[in-house]
Amino acid sequence: MKVAVFSTHPFDRRFFDAANEGAEPRQQLTYLETRLDSVSAPLAAGHRAICAFVNDRLDRATLEILAGQGVRLLALRSAGFNHVDLAAAAELGLSVARVPAYSPDAIAEHTVAMILTLNRKIHKAYNRVREGNFALDGLLGFDLRGRTVGIVGTGKIGLNVARIMRGFDCSVIAHDPFPDPAGLTAIGGTYVDWPELLERSDIISLHCPLTPDTRHLIDADAIAQMKPDVMLINTSRGAVVDTRALVEGLKAGRIGYVGLDVYEEEEGLFFNDLSDQPIRDDLFARLLTFPNVLITGHQAFFTREALTAIAETTIANIAAFEANGAPLYPVTAAAR
Ligand code: NAI
Repeated sequence: MKVAVFSTHPFDRRFFDAANEGAEPRQQLTYLETRLDSVSAPLAAGHRAICAFVNDRLDRATLEILAGQGVRLLALRSAGFNHVDLAAAAELGLSVARVPAYSPDAIAEHTVAMILTLNRKIHKAYNRVREGNFALDGLLGFDLRGRTVGIVGTGKIGLNVARIMRGFDCSVIAHDPFPDPAGLTAIGGTYVDWPELLERSDIISLHCPLTPDTRHLIDADAIAQMKPDVMLINTSRGAVVDTRALVEGLKAGRIGYVGLDVYEEEEGLFFNDLSDQPIRDDLFARLLTFPNVLITGHQAFFTREALTAIAETTIANIAAFEANGAPLYPVTAAAR
């Protein structure tokens, strides 16, 4: 099948070519560097499928153009699908596929890397030592042992983070409207209600999907209930956190540490080399001024294992759609 792969980076090409090489039948992949939106959608002409990543815009206007050109499958190379208008896709007869789990370890391990980096200030120490500055002032951390970690969303990634943090002898508490008591108990964690998680956690780590219910879950009200000096980590989706409220919490000195792998307005910012341009997003620029904020550009998924699994599952989704008219891992409007 002819597939237009949008937002392609050299690493996508490498892993997709490798997965396609061993596949039977092989797909005809057209690699496009441009992000998918209503302006670039006409580039999909002549293709039956498109392959999109997290910052492509699959809104109604884009989907109408794709459908009008004969596209029938939207193969997402991500777990999240908050960037797709699923109702419009259903109306237009477009099937949507995703990669439900490629490496929960990759995201969990990056989350823990952020916790350790923020706590022990490895990012500052790295620069200091290279400049011949071996002073320790400003690098003081705390023992993780005995601290309380609050996990928001105990799905595949959240449970992995919980398991790793139990290895540091942390207490793990969690909140999830669809709990997995057996999974969490086996790790040694306990479920608590939302206010208790906010009040008791020394570290709060977000692992829920972005839905209408979780948009700005972390707002001014939630921040006011957190422990002073709390560490907040977000590797889920940017809009789960109200960035303005976060900045206010940082300015007021209420929040001790922030680790972000995702940002509300990351579309057009992350995944691009913008080092020769001014940052036009003032809120993002403000976040960068805080010494206790660590930001990575949506790289938690970025391991060899995860990219291999993403490419192989996406190729399998496309092959299944070609053979049976349905992908291996469909997403439906009901999934919201
Ligand atoms: P999952 O579907 O296995 O687990 C999500 C959990 O969140 C579920 O147990 C669900 O019940 C829970 N949840 C839903 N609403 C909630 C709420 N209001 N409060 C607390 N929990 C709630 O998903 P998985 O694989 O663990 O991924 C979690 C999220 O991580 C994804 O939705 C995606 O947004 C993000 N992600 C980020 C990546 C990155 O590179 N930074 C890569 C992959 C995923």
